[in-house]
Amino acid sequence: MKQLEKIYEGKAKQIYRTEDENLIIMHYKDDATAYNGIKKAQIKEKGTLNNKISTIIYKYLIAKGIPTHYIETINDCDQLCKKVTIFPLEVICRNYVAGSMSKRLGIPEGTKPENVIFEICYKNDTLGDPLINDHHAVALKAATYDELKEIYKLTSEINEYLKELFSKVGIILVDFKIEFGKTFDGKIVLADEISPDTARLWDEKTHDKLDKDRFRRDLGHVTEAYQEIYKRLGSL
Ligand code: TMP
Repeated sequence: MKQLEKIYEGKAKQIYRTEDENLIIMHYKDDATAYNGIKKAQIKEKGTLNNKISTIIYKYLIAKGIPTHYIETINDCDQLCKKVTIFPLEVICRNYVAGSMSKRLGIPEGTKPENVIFEICYKNDTLGDPLINDHHAVALKAATYDELKEIYKLTSEINEYLKELFSKVGIILVDFKIEFGKTFDGKIVLADEISPDTARLWDEKTHDKLDKDRFRRDLGHVTEAYQEIYKRLGSL
């Protein structure tokens, strides 16, 4: 599939048009940002590793019956995907308390609540992607109540499948952020990446962080952590 002009550039990816109006090419960059773009760096091999990790995860979820935008991985840094209209929502799913939830509510990081926690944030850089609730999302026309119901159902299923996948390789799925889009025929599908950029992944035995918190918190060995995730998932 021939790559045509760039139609979107995000913090970690670029989107290109193709000869087919319903397909796009998603390019993974080595750029990393945190704290709404305040902290910036290039992380060696990150684009390639996230492309490979996300590919394994998407293939696994597709085999489980989750509808996604993914078609195929075409090289080290690029995937061919269905063109979707992204819901301007970041959907966060937490199995353990960490990050912003820990700070906001004063609960120690690593606490395991009895329930799974779902959050939504409004994708808006100027506002700093604020945490909102379903009623805000509907008022903002970001999604309808019916669409939110489907989004939460899919997120819950994805969480169960991903917990199972990561536990097979000795990793705790602490939390993750996903996005959804609508295809030209109105179907809601999982879109964007799932990688150590968008999930907190802790080693089951040592609780070592194997994700982007190594960059956010200046813990070092960022590439090595991403390589470890790829190595473990690749061993399955
Ligand atoms: P948080 O604890 O900072 O709210 O993050 C929750 C999860 O969402 C964590 O796995 C990191 C991921 N995340 C993103 O992928 N993109 C973002 O912009 C933010 C804020 C979090």
